[in-house]
Amino acid sequence: MKKNRLILPTLILALAASIGAHAQRFTTIRNGLQWTDTRGEMVQAHGGNFLQVGKKWYLIGEDRSRSWNPDVNLYSTTDFQTWTFEAKIIENGVTHPELGRSRMIERPKLMYNAQTGKYVVWCHWEARNYGASEAGVFEADSITGPYRTVWTGRPIDTKSRDCNIFVDHDGTAYFISTTDENTNLGLFTLSSDYHSATAKTVLCEGMRREAPAIVNIHGTYHMISSACTGWDPNQALITTSRNLHEGWSTPRRIGDRITYDTQASSILTIAGTKDTTYIYVGDRWMDPDLPHSKIIMLPIEFDKDGNMQLNWREEWQIDLKRGTWRDVKKKKK
Ligand code: DGJ
Repeated sequence: MKKNRLILPTLILALAASIGAHAQRFTTIRNGLQWTDTRGEMVQAHGGNFLQVGKKWYLIGEDRSRSWNPDVNLYSTTDFQTWTFEAKIIENGVTHPELGRSRMIERPKLMYNAQTGKYVVWCHWEARNYGASEAGVFEADSITGPYRTVWTGRPIDTKSRDCNIFVDHDGTAYFISTTDENTNLGLFTLSSDYHSATAKTVLCEGMRREAPAIVNIHGTYHMISSACTGWDPNQALITTSRNLHEGWSTPRRIGDRITYDTQASSILTIAGTKDTTYIYVGDRWMDPDLPHSKIIMLPIEFDKDGNMQLNWREEWQIDLKRGTWRDVKKKKK
């Protein structure tokens, strides 16, 4: 009899613990808020991307606290809520003598080269009036630096502005940028050390797209991009292809007419034990108060035909271990 009396409370406790553990697995992503780091300072990592190393995600991006001359910051997180400032990895006047004087950086993107064991950053390397239209490459042995300048210039003699990187499943890396005075997109295949562009394919010819972000999902490439409207948001378009170099579909709209007041910076893949979640990461530019620009993260959804959809969510939850996401349950009143 005594035994039976103990079984029920034990079961209830075990159930509560398992529900608690399950609930804890989900981390809540809240959009539209200013993120702060563990020092209590504003997270300054605009126009960047994420790189996963083990259980940590590193975030690189523009430090716009000095507004028009961004340095490049690196943060890390394990839960997308706590942001640890790791280092200022590219710094005005330090990493390159022209940086912060005649040159500035936009959209720094970080990747890891498994062949060389180095961390490589590609970015937009620009003059004040956007006339230089160049790219910059930096490299380090350790993710936190020190980074040295590898090269700056026009990839394959092409005027190049807004940019991103894309690393395919086989480790081949690409630099993709808005070329020819914002007319086309150039997809540049990178050398095996990721130091230089070795080939160029013109994409979205004459479409005047920028802020490109590519992901490969089961052999289909999806590319989100924006129109060129300065710091103002506009309608994002998405195009897909089974081949990076040709056969891209006619772009279609994704999200609302101002992409929920964002412009794409990257697509983050969270591959878990159960599923994979793809996250649209966008900048909510706060021009002319660029330092207060926000980072917005939205789960990418797929309709029954496999087409990507983007819906606004003020908050949502992700299980980083299992790779699943869900909406936040509304509390009953
Ligand atoms: C939009 C780009 O995406 C940004 O990176 C920046 O270059 C602004 N244009 C400048 O107006």
